[in-house]
Amino acid sequence: MTLDELKKICSECHGCSLSETRTNCVFGIGNENADIMFVGEAPGEQEDLSGTPFVGRAGQLLDKFLYAVDISREDVYIANILKCRPPKNRDPLPAEEDACIDFLRRQVEIINPKVIVCLGRISAMRLIKPDFKITREHGTWFKKGNYLMTAVYHPAALLRDPRKKEDMLEDMKKIKEKVLEIENEL
Ligand code: URA
Repeated sequence: MTLDELKKICSECHGCSLSETRTNCVFGIGNENADIMFVGEAPGEQEDLSGTPFVGRAGQLLDKFLYAVDISREDVYIANILKCRPPKNRDPLPAEEDACIDFLRRQVEIINPKVIVCLGRISAMRLIKPDFKITREHGTWFKKGNYLMTAVYHPAALLRDPRKKEDMLEDMKKIKEKVLEIENEL
C-alpha cells in the first residue's frame, strides 16, 4: 500500500469518536523516503483546520529548531500518534491511541526511517516505553526493532517554559549528528 492510499483510508476513518468533531484528518506530511520521522501527539486547532501537522505556534517553533540544525522540513516526515484533534486539545485517551496507532505503524513501515524522534512525553510513552520520563530521558537513544528512537521536548512545552530551549537545541544537534553518522556508514 502507498502512503496516498493509506491517507485516503485514514480520511474516511470512523474508528473513534474524534472523527465526529474533526474538520480534517491530519495524516502526516513530508518526504516518503525520509531518514528522520518526527511523531507528535495529536493535531491542534490549526492542524485540524489545515489538515497538516505542526503548522500552529508549536509547529513554527519546531521549524526554527529544524532550521537551527540544518534539517530541512522537506527532507523529514512529520506525523502524530492521533490523526484527529481531541476536543480542546485534551490528552489522547488510550482507546483513541489504540484505535489510531495502526495508521502510524503502517506509515513507519512504508517510510522506513533511520531514526524516529518522538515529540513530547505522550508520543515517547506510546512509542518508546510506557514509563518514559521526558525530563530525564529526552535526548537518550533507544533501539526498538529496526529503529533508533529518541524523544525531545514537545515544542508546545518550550512555549510554556522557554528555559527548556537549550536542551532542545542540544538534542536536535545530536539527532542531526546521528543521522549524518548513519548516512555516512551506508
Ligand atoms: N501538537 C502536536 O502534537 N501535533 C501537531 O500536529 C500540532 C501540535
